[in-house]
Amino acid sequence: DEEVYNYYADGEWKKSASGKFVSIINPTTRTPQYKVQACTQEEVNKVMDAAKAAQKLWARTPLWKRAELLHKAAAILKEHKNPIAECLVKEIAKPAKDAVTEVVRSGDLVSYTAEDGVRILGEGKLLVSDSFPGNERSKYCLSSKIPLGVVLAIPPFNYPVNLAVSKIAPALIAGNALVLKPPTQGAVAALHMIHCFHLAGFPKGLISCVTGKGSEIGDFLTMHPGVNCISFTGGDTGIVISKKAGMIPLQMELGGKDACIVLEDADLDLVAANIVKGGYSYSGQRCTAVKVVLIMESVADAVVEKVKAKMAKLTIGPPEENCDITPVVSESSANFVEGLVMDAKQKGATFCQEYRREGNLIWPLLLDQVRPDMRIAWEEPFGPVLPVIRISSVEEGIHHCNASNFGLQGCVFTRDINKAIMISDAMETGTVQINSAPARGPDHFPFQGLKDSGIGSQGITNSINMMTKIKSTVINLP
Ligand code: G3H
Repeated sequence: DEEVYNYYADGEWKKSASGKFVSIINPTTRTPQYKVQACTQEEVNKVMDAAKAAQKLWARTPLWKRAELLHKAAAILKEHKNPIAECLVKEIAKPAKDAVTEVVRSGDLVSYTAEDGVRILGEGKLLVSDSFPGNERSKYCLSSKIPLGVVLAIPPFNYPVNLAVSKIAPALIAGNALVLKPPTQGAVAALHMIHCFHLAGFPKGLISCVTGKGSEIGDFLTMHPGVNCISFTGGDTGIVISKKAGMIPLQMELGGKDACIVLEDADLDLVAANIVKGGYSYSGQRCTAVKVVLIMESVADAVVEKVKAKMAKLTIGPPEENCDITPVVSESSANFVEGLVMDAKQKGATFCQEYRREGNLIWPLLLDQVRPDMRIAWEEPFGPVLPVIRISSVEEGIHHCNASNFGLQGCVFTRDINKAIMISDAMETGTVQINSAPARGPDHFPFQGLKDSGIGSQGITNSINMMTKIKSTVINLP
């Protein structure tokens, strides 16, 4: 029987009064692995009340003490990297080594946030009035950063620990309370991560983690009047949330269709290595994965051959064996990927490998000669399938990139730095990587999407700032 996990509220692990559970299916075995509580709306209300009360005291807790607790949580998280990583392997089929890396990266992120927070939040501003026309030097404005209140964090399945702490740590250092709604796949890893914060000794009610069905508590959470900020990472649901949410700051990181533009003068071995890493790591289930290759016709054959050779070396199988390609997160996800592949097949794409699927495991596939009438030219597979579109000019590549609804990241490969900068300027994406595959990290870099890829900017410093407001006190001299 699957193990049952409680939710976290008021500094305790609790069973839901609903008596109901949500099952977590192991993507590899396709059998139930864990069960989490299906929390009720009433339980969400209680969590919000407790968060609000705890936040008032937390905001008055000295900044250095808040930082100290975060450092402690970071150390505990790193100490427990193995059991948490094991959950990631079982719940989301993340390759074993990458699962450990996710937890270690999360510990580092929490520590860095604590350090960054004491600097950023430890500084205020003093303005004097006589710089504005007509004013004497009679007003002194003191401004500093204050917390927003209760932050609701909703991370996605692909980084249930890392993309949770990237919201939790900035919220807490800035003096906010935090309510976490983990993704169903990854919920148990997230609960373990929350346990590390529990062990660090944060005040009761300040941090809570509610699990449950989106249909029951999803809208209820995101539209809850007790929520003062939402930080969400995931898919289209983010667009729905942003339409329904109240007048509160939103941080949204949604999908991407990150393009890789390859110029004729590029280092083709570097290109191939980055296409394989960027396109197929964690089986393409990263918002920053390379999702379309736009390559100059004259070098296309050479690059495709190099990519094929590297793909042939990828290991395919269970995450426990640390294979490069592991099962995608769910059957519906695998079916979606297959739908894109079949559409491309019917419309005449060139298959560089045979399409193969067993359960949720999809063998890595490169589709050459993809044309704009194919769905895969525009849609995000979130699986190990990558389209190649051959272009006859750089402008054609930029045009395809900018015609997308998404605008997360992109990359360009060339030895000509002037061209690279010009292309970067022309690409309508939040970040452009020159001579490397897209990536969010290092985690203190700004990270943002344009268009349907998001709202606001993340990265440690930006997240801390986003989770605060400016408060001014003006001293009026007689
Ligand atoms: O899936 C979205 C993540 O923000 C991507 O992070 O570039 O570190 O894989 P990553």
